Amino acid sequence: MRLLWLLAIVGLSVYGAEVVKVGDKFKDSGKCKACHSHIVKQWEDSWHAKSHYDNDEYLQKSIDYVARKNNRKSLNTVKIECAACHNPRISVTSTSAEYEAIAALNLDKDTAATKALKSDGISEGINCVVCHNIDQIHDELPDSKRGIHRVTWMPSGTMTGPYGDAKSPYHKVEPRDFMDNNPNQLCFVCHANDKSEEGHRFMDMQAEFKSGGKQCVDCHMGPRKQGVAATLRNVNGQAHKRLIREHGFEGGHVESMWQGALAVDVRKSAKGLEVILTNPQPHALPSGFGSREILIEAQYISGGKITKTQTASLTSRYVDKRGKPTIPHLAAKTVENSSVPAQGSKTVVLPIESGTTQVMIVVSYRLVNDEVRGIIDLKDPIWSKKMVIKKLNVKL
Ligand code: HEC
Ligand code: HEC
Ligand code: HEC
Ligand code: HEC
Ligand code: HEC
Repeated sequence: MRLLWLLAIVGLSVYGAEVVKVGDKFKDSGKCKACHSHIVKQWEDSWHAKSHYDNDEYLQKSIDYVARKNNRKSLNTVKIECAACHNPRISVTSTSAEYEAIAALNLDKDTAATKALKSDGISEGINCVVCHNIDQIHDELPDSKRGIHRVTWMPSGTMTGPYGDAKSPYHKVEPRDFMDNNPNQLCFVCHANDKSEEGHRFMDMQAEFKSGGKQCVDCHMGPRKQGVAATLRNVNGQAHKRLIREHGFEGGHVESMWQGALAVDVRKSAKGLEVILTNPQPHALPSGFGSREILIEAQYISGGKITKTQTASLTSRYVDKRGKPTIPHLAAKTVENSSVPAQGSKTVVLPIESGTTQVMIVVSYRLVNDEVRGIIDLKDPIWSKKMVIKKLNVKL
């Protein structure tokens, strides 16, 4: 019995990400277009499709900043660490001390690691053959093993999906429960927790998730609707009608998703003007990645004129080992976390200016707070854009 335990433990500790090469016929989404063009088009607009150093400014500048601040790790080593979830079809999953020595001398051009990072097999980020090529998800592993380190792959050319009776002339198919009844298991491969270079866990989405009726896919892929999975026609000239979902994975980057995401109530009390944010969603908001922000802006009006404006921010802030503000991936600790908890609420009290007859309140969301935007110098307007959740006009 003891020997069995020992074997099990040894088995777990030597389990490392095993790379399975994806054949050219399946490597990129362009190969799926002939029969799944509607799905490819939706996915192309998603942020899963942008998850690559070259395609997401925030990811790129975070990676650069981590490498600059950590002189024991080369830029490529940091890229490979992040690839575990951002580019899980990468063919090299870790680097050695030897590699660091070669990279420091700029002699790493012909190494497997450098070639793997340049490969077009990862340039599409989280593409079709990330989700649909997973064979097993190893929930028996410690909960910090994520992305590439938590899955084993199907042989190239076998697609896992929701249907038990699908047939395709282009690829093999196999049904999986995480594509059908238990899709949260798939999302939690990556959207579960992440830690900084200092070992600080700065996001913990799986732990804070209040599983109730709805699954991630119900809201982020929409409900199952009548449609076709493949446009290929059968011998009767017809495509097979199916229940399908959208592949847009709309989330924090999409303004329309924010409308009404929180309920907002305003109440006058002895303390001042209470703004109560209630979150009906099963995860906190902001959630997931750090340094997102909810803004409450109030304009005080008296005599028909705006007399004063006031802003309150709900966000997470991080400090490094020396106590200086930093980005989530270099955090030694979180000094402030003011998300609205899942199915909970948060009250922010604003002072009431005397003489005010009316207050206009706008609650909005930003992808990156001022602090982190400044530290890594993000330029694209999307990071500071205020996406409106709710506007209220309160008569006092
Ligand atoms: C982040 C993971 C993920 C990615 C990336 C992804 N899919 Fe899916 N896909 C799913 C899930 C989950 C379902 C099951 C939806 C359901 O409940 O019916 C699904 C379902 C499907 C189906 C069955 C029909 C349907 O819409 O339900 C097809 C076909 C499909 N995907 C093709 C693709 C193609 C082609 C791509 C790349 C352009 C892709 N998928 C990218 C997760 C993913
Ligand atoms: C020549 C046409 C064709 C091409 C190209 C093609 N597929 Fe399919 N695929 C099909 C057909 C047909 C089905 C079955 C549809 C049905 O039964 O409703 C299917 C089904 C699927 C399913 C659902 C499987 C299940 O068991 O639920 C997935 C996932 C999928 N394809 C992914 C892909 C991906 C990823 C690519 C590109 C690498 C791709 N397909 C390329 C024709 C194609
Ligand atoms: C292989 C890892 C992985 C898996 C599996 C995965 N995701 Fe993601 N997802 C990511 C990463 C990484 C990003 C961020 C990409 C970026 O912005 O560059 C992301 C982004 C998103 C976003 C956009 C968030 C925003 O703020 O706009 C949504 C929504 C999302 N994922 C939902 C899902 C759902 C639902 C599932 C399960 C069906 C899923 N993901 C499975 C890694 C994954
Ligand atoms: C009941 C619907 C619902 C369910 C279920 C749900 N979400 Fe969300 N999620 C939302 C809404 C609404 C938002 C806020 C608007 C937006 O970003 O889309 C959001 C935001 C997000 C964001 C961006 C977070 C931020 O604060 O920047 C991510 C990432 C995300 N969800 C992932 C997931 C994952 C992973 C699951 C499953 C574990 C899940 N969601 C389940 C409704 C839902
Ligand atoms: C454990 C899996 C995992 C690892 C490892 C990981 N990430 Fe992520 N990352 C995610 C997920 C999931 C999201 C999407 C969550 C969301 O949007 O709320 C994300 C989102 C991000 C974003 C926000 C992108 C955007 O468009 O808003 C940045 C920046 C980022 N990651 C940087 C990094 C860096 C830098 C590394 C490596 C040092 C890294 N990540 C490693 C899972 C991971």
